[in-house]
Amino acid sequence: MLARIFIAIIRLSPSLQKGLWKWWYQRLAHRGRDADWAFMNYGFTPKNGGPALVLKEQDESDRPFIELYNYTASQIPIKGLNVLEIGSGRGGGSSFIARYHEPTQITGLDYSPQAIELSSELHRDIPNLNFIQGDAESLPFNDRVFDAIINVESSHCYGNMAEFVSEVARVLKPNGYFSWVDLRGKDMIGEVEEAFSIEELRKIKEATITTEVIEALDDIHERKMAVIKQHVPRWIQPAFRDFSGVKGSKIYNGFKDGSAVYIAKVFQKV
Ligand SMILES: C[S@@+](CC[C@H](N)C(=O)[O-])C[C@H]1O[C@@H](n2cnc3c(N)ncnc32)[C@H](O)[C@@H]1O
Repeated sequence: MLARIFIAIIRLSPSLQKGLWKWWYQRLAHRGRDADWAFMNYGFTPKNGGPALVLKEQDESDRPFIELYNYTASQIPIKGLNVLEIGSGRGGGSSFIARYHEPTQITGLDYSPQAIELSSELHRDIPNLNFIQGDAESLPFNDRVFDAIINVESSHCYGNMAEFVSEVARVLKPNGYFSWVDLRGKDMIGEVEEAFSIEELRKIKEATITTEVIEALDDIHERKMAVIKQHVPRWIQPAFRDFSGVKGSKIYNGFKDGSAVYIAKVFQKV
């Protein structure tokens, strides 16, 4: 049963969907506590052409996941600014942005208390980085606080996408930027477009990055299989394989046959 939930879950009723995802990520934060992984995204392998991202040795093993963050963060100004990441997971992405993109401050927000506890522990030595528990649909911040917001592979879990978008617009300063990447079933694109169509946000860029994500999934297949084998109890391994998008999983096949897409959008607050 669990092995089949991944695609189905994003079609459930909003509140049920949100509750299930919450349960799942709490479980992940708990289960994977011992594992040395700070990312929970599908990764991104850039097409040849641009200069290669230079990483410190300690970050090299996380390259595919970092590349997705680097792509997302590189779309907007970050240096010297006050930045928010919504759905920061285990904090690896906020940590990368804090160290490589040099914001004055970056706050990672996630609604899993365990993920926040783990992030604060794993990345405690980075001065311009902090983590806070909160809900993307009801952000615990005043209006017009952040210069830039990023959101990586998290919004498919939200019960009400329109509520999230309106919260992003509320906490962004005028002219602030919002860079978003996530996956959707192809038939759900219309709903996403509708949620993003609000007066306060002007779309300035968009792209489909499914090819780059598939390439990353291919590159990290063996490593993911090894982590699942080592850290996940046997009975729940099929669910983790589906969830993590290894070759042959429903989501991997969906990307391949076009029934699922990975999209990127950039907005500026007007
Ligand atoms: C697939 S993980 C991605 C984590 C991180 N962005 C990364 O790439 O490693 C999705 C994250 O979104 C978080 N999340 C889901 N619903 C949320 C909500 N309503 N508010 C805040 N965070 C949420 C989950 O707890 C989880 O950590």
